[in-house]
Amino acid sequence: MSHQSQELRLKHLFDGGDWNVYAPDILNLGVGAPGTDLLEPCCDLFQQATAHCLKREKNVNQSLIFQYGPTSGTFEVRHQLAKYFSQMYDSTVNRSVFLKALFTLSLNDCFLHDCSEDLIITTGATQGLHFVLSTLIDFNGCIFVDEFTYMIALDSMKHFTTLQIVPVKLNADGVDLIDLEEKVKTRQFKSKSKEFWGIYYTIPTYHNPTGILFSPDVCRGIVRLARKFDFLVLCDDVYNILHYAEKPLHSRLLSYDVRTDGDYVGNVISNGSFSKIIGPGVRLGWLEVPPRIKPQLDSSGIINSGGCFNNYTAGIVASLFELDLAQQHIARVYESYKERMLATIAILNAELPQECHFSAPRGGYFIWISLPPELDAREFGQYCLKYEKITFIPGPRFAVDNGIGKHYFRISIAFHSTEKLVDGTKRLCSALKSFMAKTSDGRQT
Ligand SMILES: Cc1ncc(COP(=O)(O)O)c(C=O)c1O
Repeated sequence: MSHQSQELRLKHLFDGGDWNVYAPDILNLGVGAPGTDLLEPCCDLFQQATAHCLKREKNVNQSLIFQYGPTSGTFEVRHQLAKYFSQMYDSTVNRSVFLKALFTLSLNDCFLHDCSEDLIITTGATQGLHFVLSTLIDFNGCIFVDEFTYMIALDSMKHFTTLQIVPVKLNADGVDLIDLEEKVKTRQFKSKSKEFWGIYYTIPTYHNPTGILFSPDVCRGIVRLARKFDFLVLCDDVYNILHYAEKPLHSRLLSYDVRTDGDYVGNVISNGSFSKIIGPGVRLGWLEVPPRIKPQLDSSGIINSGGCFNNYTAGIVASLFELDLAQQHIARVYESYKERMLATIAILNAELPQECHFSAPRGGYFIWISLPPELDAREFGQYCLKYEKITFIPGPRFAVDNGIGKHYFRISIAFHSTEKLVDGTKRLCSALKSFMAKTSDGRQT
């Protein structure tokens, strides 16, 4: 069968090929997506939301959901998003307009206007990043990234061949501020063509792949440096409401860029998505951007040509929230993730060989495991596949420089049931013990 005809039969990204999650005898612990069981309720939920949304479109909205949408998305969609995430973050989404509204509008108007002015609907965090890179960053500039970062974001960045990708050291509490400052300082320039000469891309809340939650001090430090050297910080905030331990002080780094600060300019963008909490096939996300940046994005050709990036789906998802179906679904998915993460951590605590390490994540999808530095996770990957039929992603895939991270690997808790994860993690630990024994035997002989 040709490659193309094989592709036509595929139903999703992890179907077939190296990523196949359905090979009956292979447990793929690499996949960072919700499991099939978690998506199952979506058909019924979306059917209800679609009926609700289209009824209103037909009866009161002249079917305008099928028209080019307003660039940022309709007010109703942004209103639902702002309301839900303000609650989930314990921090107001889109405060600027709210403050402005307090001074210029009546109280009733404040409610009518809500505070959804900072949001721009996207087709997900992947597109959010691409949109920002293509519109706001000088093409002769730099992208600073954590030394280990979301591997496919790196692939997207590499399309911008004139941008320099600069890795920055990552510590247990987030990016190394001294390294970031040094690297930024030596590369800074005044851009003549774009708002920013450089961007720092990160995942400060339940980082991919390391699971790290950046500490408040590191978050404050990033904002301080961003203001000082006027670079943009783009945070992929796709795991931010998946807390399995105490909720952090702030659920997103953007809220450290405090608008009432004397030196506030607006340096942080939150790049959100429904992929992990509703379903990646929905292709819906949002950018939460400072007032300084919003008009530039809203007036860009790429958004004006097509209008709102995903107007129809956004309308359906707004109904999903209006009917309280999204909230209930997210709560259920969250409970499953939490159970999966805690069960996997418990097995690792009990059975991971003591020469190996991991730091129990407080939220999100990923666990980052280190082998003794002399071992290679890619070799362990081959061993584990051969003897236990388990796969995962070795560390080098997450690095700009593929030469580093060889003794790390990432597993994900999102796709498989708790039972499969518990069994798989036990077998992974057992394979690790025999791999280490075999490797040390090999060295002695
Ligand atoms: C950090 C990060 N950003 C973005 C994405 C993709 O998000 P989306 O489906 O919204 O494009 C992922 C998915 O794994 C991710 O881990």
